[in-house]
Amino acid sequence: MYIVSNFVKVTVPNYLAGLPIPDSFGGWFRLGVKDWLALIPPTIVIGGISYYSYQTIKQARAFGRINTMIRLDEKKVVDFVEIEDIGEKMSLCRCWKSKKWPLCDGAHGPHNRATGDNTGPVVIRRVKPEENK
Ligand code: FES
Repeated sequence: MYIVSNFVKVTVPNYLAGLPIPDSFGGWFRLGVKDWLALIPPTIVIGGISYYSYQTIKQARAFGRINTMIRLDEKKVVDFVEIEDIGEKMSLCRCWKSKKWPLCDGAHGPHNRATGDNTGPVVIRRVKPEENK
């Protein structure tokens, strides 16, 4: 724990205190090449943290709602499938990523790999009476 404590309380503050950050706006224009080079690593770290935070917030907002692309102008997405249209089997999308909505087009696969989710379709199949025993 001492290593972490020392890093946070001593090493980082000393490093930041040693950065050539000017006291005034005009001071930025008087920095030399060596000063600018010294500012690159913390700029990359701050930029990386900012980018990662932005992506995390963006994903959190996107995952806040289930439907992010299907008929967003409608108050509620409701579909009817006629039983006669089912045939032997029909796969209905439950991940809300299908471009053939309400049918599954396999888009749940890339979604599951990208997010760690485990969504999949509901498969409706016609069972012959003799198979249903
Ligand atoms: Fe959505 Fe398959 S595409 S469940």
